[in-house]
Amino acid sequence: MMKQLFCAIALAATLGVGAANAAEMKAMGPHASLPCDTCHAGGKFVAPAKETCLQCHQSYEAVAKRTEKMTPNPHSSHRGEPNCTNCHSMHAKPRFECNDCHTFDIKMKGE
Ligand code: HEC
Ligand code: HEC
Ligand code: HEC
Ligand code: HEC
Repeated sequence: MMKQLFCAIALAATLGVGAANAAEMKAMGPHASLPCDTCHAGGKFVAPAKETCLQCHQSYEAVAKRTEKMTPNPHSSHRGEPNCTNCHSMHAKPRFECNDCHTFDIKMKGE
């Protein structure tokens, strides 16, 4: 059932028809206009690894620089360099995974 659903969405995206389904799956904010296969190479509709995000976002150092005023910096910690989608989501709610163990006063946009 899920597999069929994904195929239907993939097909709709490829053909540019059934726009309702594909449009609902648009990635969030600045990623909305990206072709689906930017993140779903080979039609694999799962969260891409960090290497995909880093094609545009450069490096963990680069994103850590952007959040350097946050305490703690979510992009620089004892957790190293996890997949971006451990916290960020592209179609659903994000989730700040540090707070699985901590109680930092930090919320992701849209959380
Ligand atoms: C094809 C290029 C590209 C890819 C791939 C990409 N991004 Fe982005 N991302 C952008 C652009 C462009 C922006 C808007 C400018 C900026 O904030 O850098 C952006 C912005 C963001 C923002 C800030 C959004 C906001 O509203 O403040 C986050 C968070 C983000 N990207 C996370 C990710 C994650 C996680 C991935 C991998 C799943 C990813 N990006 C993959 C290009 C990309
Ligand atoms: C910037 C990267 C990015 C782009 C572009 C993108 N996705 Fe995704 N997609 C993700 C991530 C990350 C997930 C994992 C779940 C989440 O973050 O919401 C995902 C999960 C999915 C899933 C699995 C359902 C789920 O909620 O786990 C489907 C289906 C999907 N995407 C369809 C699409 C379609 C169709 C497009 C093009 C209209 C698209 N995606 C564009 C990053 C992206
Ligand atoms: C699996 C549990 C776990 C996760 C997830 C986790 N931490 Fe930790 N963290 C710890 C433990 C255990 C310590 C050391 C004991 C302590 O100081 O509480 C620690 C210590 C710290 C410290 C120094 C002590 C403090 O509380 O100021 C910081 C800063 C920190 N973590 C940040 C992060 C950030 C940022 C993330 C997410 C990227 C994260 N942690 C995710 C378990 C975790
Ligand atoms: C441990 C959780 C976590 C991980 C993993 C993570 N981020 Fe973030 N990210 C955050 C938080 C928290 C913010 C600040 C709140 C927000 O923008 O949602 C943020 C903000 C951002 C921003 C916006 C910064 C700005 O200028 O406002 C970008 C871009 C971004 N992250 C990209 C990435 C990329 C790319 C990766 C993977 C290389 C990644 N993040 C991994 C938690 C995380």
